[in-house]
Amino acid sequence: MTQADALFRPLESEKLTLKNRVVMAPMTRTMSPGNVPNDAVIDYYRRRAEGGVGLIITEGTFVDHPAAIAYPNVPAFFGDEALAGWKRVVDAVHEAGGKIAPQIWHVGAIRKPGINPGGDTPGYSPSGMAVPGKVRGHAMTQDDINDVVAAFAKAAKDAEAIGFDAVEIHGAHGYLIDQFFWDGTNQRNDEYGGDLTARSKFALEVVKAVRAAVSRDFPVIFRFSQWKQQDYGARLCETPEELGAFLQPLAEAGVDIFHCSTRRFWEPEFDGSDLNLAGWARKLTGKPCITVGSVGLNADFLPEDGTADFKAAEPASIDNLVDRMDRDEFDMVAVGRALIANPDWANQVQAGKLADLAAYEKDMLHKLY
Ligand code: FNR
Repeated sequence: MTQADALFRPLESEKLTLKNRVVMAPMTRTMSPGNVPNDAVIDYYRRRAEGGVGLIITEGTFVDHPAAIAYPNVPAFFGDEALAGWKRVVDAVHEAGGKIAPQIWHVGAIRKPGINPGGDTPGYSPSGMAVPGKVRGHAMTQDDINDVVAAFAKAAKDAEAIGFDAVEIHGAHGYLIDQFFWDGTNQRNDEYGGDLTARSKFALEVVKAVRAAVSRDFPVIFRFSQWKQQDYGARLCETPEELGAFLQPLAEAGVDIFHCSTRRFWEPEFDGSDLNLAGWARKLTGKPCITVGSVGLNADFLPEDGTADFKAAEPASIDNLVDRMDRDEFDMVAVGRALIANPDWANQVQAGKLADLAAYEKDMLHKLY
């Protein structure tokens, strides 16, 4: 028995069972030449499964739409070759005793035509904006919306067919789905724009289409965030009531698990309570929730905000996490950069070997290991 036991209890939720509560956070690695996951990518995920992670969420993988991609060498989630590559990833993870979900993704107006793969196709978004007020892309028509919804559904169907254990819809961080949620980038005056309920219509259509495309028991995870990569201080919901009104329709549309993206898991989401975003999401929806943000790091994430207030290394972070998990504030924890630095992070933490863990450094992103 180690102090971190709460992280290593099995999860038995309605649709997903896991050997423990440790999830690999989705992380774009741009290491798939030709947009096909190759042997190095397969081995990279296999090592995390061997290292004890309960559920791997893959890097964002783009759906079959001409404007879905923004960065080179990101794996696709369509086409025979890419799907065959993904099948090999799934098989490797299963052989190593892990489970895995792809994170299906459309970048929206983050795409810059001409610079990004795919040539001159502009960025597609609710109002042609990736950044509030600055139109540089194409404002989506109803036909565009229908095409993208269908592309997400097709990706989810393929995920189940290939043998993935769940699918995660990327609704966070200022990419397409989040560009609809965010009033800064959604200035439509049709039924997809207006208050947060109206701005959620696109996401609800995606979730319903995904739900309809997969079996009833296949888990659908939805990742959302208050922060945007265009604005770390952005907020969709100012109060628990607003958060409940935002999440409940998504749950009713078919989300089984919420993945609540924050930059530091220990920060309270609203005044007057210690609960973090995942804690609130769980309390308000009753669904299993994943927390995330600077677990096991001794450096600050996203230094743009100027604070470097978390210098305490492993033990403080893990103790805080375990206390919260013990209290069932949330159900799972996603670990990002600490898992890049330590493929066997889960096994090491379970064995109490915190002192042996390597510190994350940005240079580690230059190769897959
Ligand atoms: C990310 N993150 C991210 N998030 C996401 O939803 N889809 C993605 O493809 C990526 N890509 C990505 C690449 C890299 C190199 C990093 C470091 C991060 C965010 C990630 O999932 C996670 O939320 C953050 O890294 C915070 O967790 P850690 O790293 O503090 O444990």
